[in-house]
Amino acid sequence: MLHELIEPTRHDLWQPVSAFSDQSGYQLFLTQREALLRVLNARKGRPQAYVQDRAKIAHLALAVKPELVSSNDYEILEVGTGIGKAALTIQDTTHHHHHITATNVLTDPTDAKAILNAGIDLYTGMPAEFLPSEWSNRFDVVMTSCVLGWTDTTVAIPHILDVMKPKGIWVGLESGSAYCFDDPNTYLIDRIHDIALQHNTTNCLSHEQRYAYNQQFNLFPFVFTKP
Ligand SMILES: C[S@@+](CC[C@H](N)C(=O)[O-])C[C@H]1O[C@@H](n2cnc3c(N)ncnc32)[C@H](O)[C@@H]1O
Repeated sequence: MLHELIEPTRHDLWQPVSAFSDQSGYQLFLTQREALLRVLNARKGRPQAYVQDRAKIAHLALAVKPELVSSNDYEILEVGTGIGKAALTIQDTTHHHHHITATNVLTDPTDAKAILNAGIDLYTGMPAEFLPSEWSNRFDVVMTSCVLGWTDTTVAIPHILDVMKPKGIWVGLESGSAYCFDDPNTYLIDRIHDIALQHNTTNCLSHEQRYAYNQQFNLFPFVFTKP
């Protein structure tokens, strides 16, 4: 179970969520996350951190794109939504004026119900490494919060950049002290910037803004705009 959570590889697991059976592995992820952290940290040899306030990424997205509140019909995607807090916060704050899609590897049935009841499209069994090619150039806003550290960044990041519309933004928050899961000697945030730069995409936040945010929250923010 944990192995599947950490290293999902099955492309054919994608499914839109419309009904729920009983317990999913996501509850296990939440309730046994200390166990998961021990497994992950043993493999990485470095500490991994979690975001505490799970709406933070939504607040950051609203801060950098305030027109989300006044305009309609943006396509918004949250990759690795977890309990759905960020997607739900955007939905509430913008009064359901946009089309929001959320993906997860696994989703707890109760969380999934809340996400779907809010009118958000939810895909489970969809790792960031396997975002569908039919989503290319689709999203105005992509959000990720404490997700990239669980992925093969060399595969996941190009997929995320691919699903962004030209001029679309990717708003992300990752632990400033996390290392890549696929390379325990490289800071996650450096890897993200390197790959984004290879795709001609740069962080719109100034060094000072990033540094100040990281100092305050121990989280490194980034806002990439696709050329
Ligand atoms: C620390 S939680 C963050 C959840 C949510 N973004 C939040 O901030 O509340 C990490 C999330 O990454 C998801 N995850 C793990 N491996 C992933 C992968 N390869 N692709 C996408 N998401 C993944 C987990 O299922 C989990 O929901």
